[in-house]
Formats: sequence, structure tokens, C-alpha cells
Amino acid sequence: MSITKIRIGIPFNTEAVVEQLPAKDVSSLKYFELDETEDGLFFRYEDVTEKTAVYGLGEQVRGINKKGWIYGTDCTDDPDHDESRKSLYGAHNFIIIDDPDRAIRFGVFFDYPGKVTYDLGYTDSTELKISVSDKNIDIYIIDTDKLINIVSDFRHLIGKSYLPPMWGLGYGQSRWGYKNEADILEVVKKYKDAGIPLDMIYLDIDYMERYKDFTLNEEAFPDLEKLSDDLKAQGIRLIPIIDAAVKVEDGYDVYEEGVQKGYFCTDKDGKPFVGAVWPGKSCFPDFLQPKVRDWFGKKYKFLIEKGIEGFWNDMNEPAIFYSENRLKQVIERTIELSKTNIGLEEFFELTGMYATLNGNKQYYEDFFHNVDGKPVRHDKVHNLFGMNMTRAAGEAIKEMYPDREFLFFSRASSIGAHRYGGIWMGDNSSWWSHILLNLQMLPSLNMCGYLFTGADIGGFGQNTTEDLVLRWIALGVFVPLFRNHSCMGTREQELYRFNSISTFRNFITIRKAMIPYMYELLRSSNEEGRMMYIPLAFAYEDDERARSVEDQLMMGDDIMLAPVYTQNAKGRYVYLPEDMLCVRMKSVDEYLIYELPRGSHYVECALDEIIFFVRSEETIDRMLGKA
Ligand code: NOJ
Repeated sequence: MSITKIRIGIPFNTEAVVEQLPAKDVSSLKYFELDETEDGLFFRYEDVTEKTAVYGLGEQVRGINKKGWIYGTDCTDDPDHDESRKSLYGAHNFIIIDDPDRAIRFGVFFDYPGKVTYDLGYTDSTELKISVSDKNIDIYIIDTDKLINIVSDFRHLIGKSYLPPMWGLGYGQSRWGYKNEADILEVVKKYKDAGIPLDMIYLDIDYMERYKDFTLNEEAFPDLEKLSDDLKAQGIRLIPIIDAAVKVEDGYDVYEEGVQKGYFCTDKDGKPFVGAVWPGKSCFPDFLQPKVRDWFGKKYKFLIEKGIEGFWNDMNEPAIFYSENRLKQVIERTIELSKTNIGLEEFFELTGMYATLNGNKQYYEDFFHNVDGKPVRHDKVHNLFGMNMTRAAGEAIKEMYPDREFLFFSRASSIGAHRYGGIWMGDNSSWWSHILLNLQMLPSLNMCGYLFTGADIGGFGQNTTEDLVLRWIALGVFVPLFRNHSCMGTREQELYRFNSISTFRNFITIRKAMIPYMYELLRSSNEEGRMMYIPLAFAYEDDERARSVEDQLMMGDDIMLAPVYTQNAKGRYVYLPEDMLCVRMKSVDEYLIYELPRGSHYVECALDEIIFFVRSEETIDRMLGKA
């Protein structure tokens, strides 16, 4: 292993790495030309050729090979995961550059808490340019022979990942729209009537009293503890959501305590900063302070005492719909404009002002953290907010219940949070392209430490279709976080609502049989710093064709995934880098196996089948727990 740490200036300690290495100065920087200007630092990797590939960046749109687009790591609440996006909810600043023409390959981690921009051959196809608008950063360069080993060296540097309890690999049903106990019980009953196994039901924000963290809407959920116990007796666990922001409301203990103890982020005058999220006007816990993390994390006890064993943390980029100040300005300006004869210019000013209220990046310059007694403007450390919310719960729950395991995942993240929880891939859509995006994010996230992850199966936004859910589940059975979630207002997508009940039953039963195999793969991948999902470019480094495969993955060493992700397709083309067995599986007892030689093949796959590839039949038995 060879890792060089280079320190420029006096960087903020992000606590992303766990291995403390001696820092060298910038004269040890390899591979990059460094430009220092008034605007910050620019790292240029030159002479990029067609063969150069760039991997990593965790949760982002586009392919496994990230070359050819411009990305920013800037935790953002953005439900439109289309190709034009530059940043989603996570900030994962690790990339691998593989440049076979020059026999150069290395990994590099830009350990920086604010936004980093990766122009990966977008502006100039012969150059990769990474920039930060600051002059204080730690950079880790990893020189190792193989792509896989670069990842394991990096994972060693950042420490082991969070592992869920084994039951957390079961199938979960979620929907933003389950309003009360009756809704939950109906879902349970309908799954039972359909004979489709169900392991978890997720509670979205409606279980809280007016969206206030650590409260219960007692009218809707009169006895959560009993509900949780009754469901657990049937093997089903309730997994509630926790939001980052705390409602401003006199008499609400969490708010009052936070104000009194100075636990919230502050505005420029030192008063708690107020922005709006689901509860309306809210304050933002200053998760960068250890005592605030301890305070907030210990509040989860409220639900744990009611039998809850898992949580999902949301809105922790943090999402801000509007800030009090900005809303005031916009309203004042609207009143001013209303007194004029509104022309086109005024019209666009008005619509523009309202369109940019939600998620305006300006808010991040308007509030401050207290770091060791000194104010630090939020945008400078923005990507640490979600990470430290996850850490708050992870650390406090471990301290309170050292011998128990909890299911735990978050929406926002940065490298470091992988030690405390998993992540889900946020508000995707019921689009076919998002099955592929789900597949492509898996290895990129694994490279950055995230093993326990998955997407909202069936798609969160937009209306789903039965065939989309079938194909998505056929990938989902192989993915650790296995949750069907959707947004209110969209078509309901609980599996019992469709015609293919027996297929869904078969698919979920296959997954249930696979849990011990998957858990062991997850555990050993974590132990050895390996990816659970490996791009073919990594598994078959010397195979030129494998290097460009973007829609197949190795799952561990023994299984190759190649899901169907286009509507009305009867199958798909698959590239096999070696002779393999094609498995077309309908149920744990019914599957077809046939040999295929190395090369490209069209393989058929009906809607009631799952296809994958193995080297030996014995893998199938192990996978299904038959061996
Ligand atoms: C945004 C989350 O991404 C989504 O999953 C959730 O349903 C909504 N917030 C409402 O809580």
C-alpha cells in the first residue's frame, strides 16, 4: 500500500479518515499540475486520452466511468435525478484515474468539507480539472497496482463501514402517505393476504405531531409501542423517519432546550437561524458540536423505548424551503412590484424570485456553526452537516445500547458517515433509466465506503408501472437496502396492487433465501475493504471490452448481475468476459441454467424471471442457502 498525504494550508478536520498519516507538503503532489489563484486551487490532470477512465464520486448521476461531465460535491436536496444534475444528496470526494496509455492509475481523495468541482473532460476533453474555492485542503494519493486494491487501500484509510442487522436485509414497504395506524395495518394485511413476505414498514413524517422530531401524532398512532410489538410478533418492524430540522414552537421541549443551550446554528447576529422545512419555521441543530450530537442522538431513545429498532434520517443536506429573511424580502419586493404596471421584466423577476426560494444556496452563507468557540460559515463546511447528523444518532445509540443492533440510513452524506449508517439514493423517479442509475451508483458508492445502500424501488416520484416494478425488484433482490418507497400523489405501488402477485411472492422469497449469503458478502466485503458490487472494468482489468461495460456488475466474486432495464424488452445483450452459466430464475425451486461461452449474447428474460450469471452451479445453492 502506498498512500501519500499532502497538506495545503490549514485544512478543516472533516474526520473522514481514521488512519493518521504524516502530511507532506505540496512539493510531493504527483500526477496533477496545481494552479493557485485568488479563486482557490485548481488541480489539473493533463493528456487525457479516449482510454482514460475516471471512477468514484459515490452518489452522482451518469455512468460508472464518470469521464465527460462536470460534477460538484455539494449535498443538495434535488428530486430531479436527470443527466443534467451535478450534485445529489451526498458529497463523496474520492476518484480513481485509470490511464492505460500512460500506465498510470491511482486514487485520490480530496478531503475537504465544502464543494469540490470535478470537470472531468467536460470543458476540455484532454484535461481533468478539480477545483476548490479555498486554499486549505488535505489530499490523499493512493498508488496501488490494481483498481480493486486502490479501493481497499482507500477503505482502509477511511475505516470500516456501517453494517445493518441481518433483518435489515429484508423487504421493506414505504410510502409517503401512510397517515395512521389503520393505513399501516391495511398494508400488513394485504401483504399477508397476498402471501408476499414483508419484513419492514417505514413511517414517513405523518407519524409525528405536526412533523416535530421525537413526538407522536397520538390521534393517528394512539399506541405506537403496542403497534410495534404486535407487528414484531409477525416479523415486521416499523422504521420511522427523523428529520434534521426542529420546529420553532413555544412549549416544544426539543426546540426550547435547543435555544436555551445554544444548540442551533445561528445567523450573523448570533440568534438561532430560522428556515422552513416540513414543520414550517425550524432551527437547525449544530451537529458539528459534539455536545449537540450527543443531545440530538440521545433523543432517539424516545422511539427506541417504544420498540423501534431502525431509523432513516432525512432532509439533512440540510434542505431549506425558504429562509425567514429571504421570504420577507421576496414578499416586500412583490408588494413593490404590484404597485407598478408589471411588464415582462417584472414578471420574470417575480417568477424567478419564487422559483429560487426553495433550496437557495444563499441560505448556506447566512448561518454559522460554532466550532471550538469560533463561528464557521455553513457553506464552508456544508457537506459535514448530514454526516454529523448520522454520526449523532450512530454514536449516541451505540453508547445507550452497546449490545444492540439498529437499522440506520440517511439521505445526505459525506465520506466518514459510512462508519455510522448507510444511505438511500434519495428521490428517484419511476423511470426505466433509474434502474440503470441504481445499478451504476452501487459500485461508485462502494468505492467511497457505502456498502449498505439502495434506491427507492419502483421509483419515488412519478407514476410507476407493473413491469417497471417487476424489473426493478429483479435488481433489488441483489441490493442490500431493499425498500419500495413512493411519493404521495403518485400511483400506489405496494406489490399486492398489481396482477403479478405470484411473481412478486417468488422474487421476495428468493431474496429472503439469499439473506444469509448477502449478509456474509456484506460482512466480508467490509472486513477486507472490498466492493460488494464490482464494475467489470475492475474485475477483468485486462479485457478491453469489459472496461466499457456500464450495465453489468459482479456481485462479489461469484455472481454477475445483468438486469433488464428497458420497457417491453424480452431480454438484453450481455457481455461475458469468460465462459459462464446463465441462470434464469423464477423461484427458489424453478430455474433454468445453461452454459454460455465468453462473448456477447442476447439472453431472454421474461417478466417473471430474474437473470444472473455464475461460474458454477454450486454458487446458486450457496446463494439460496441450499448448500
Ligand atoms: C424527502 C425524502 O427523500 C422522501 O423519501 C420522503 O418521503 C419525504 N422527504 C417526506 O418525508
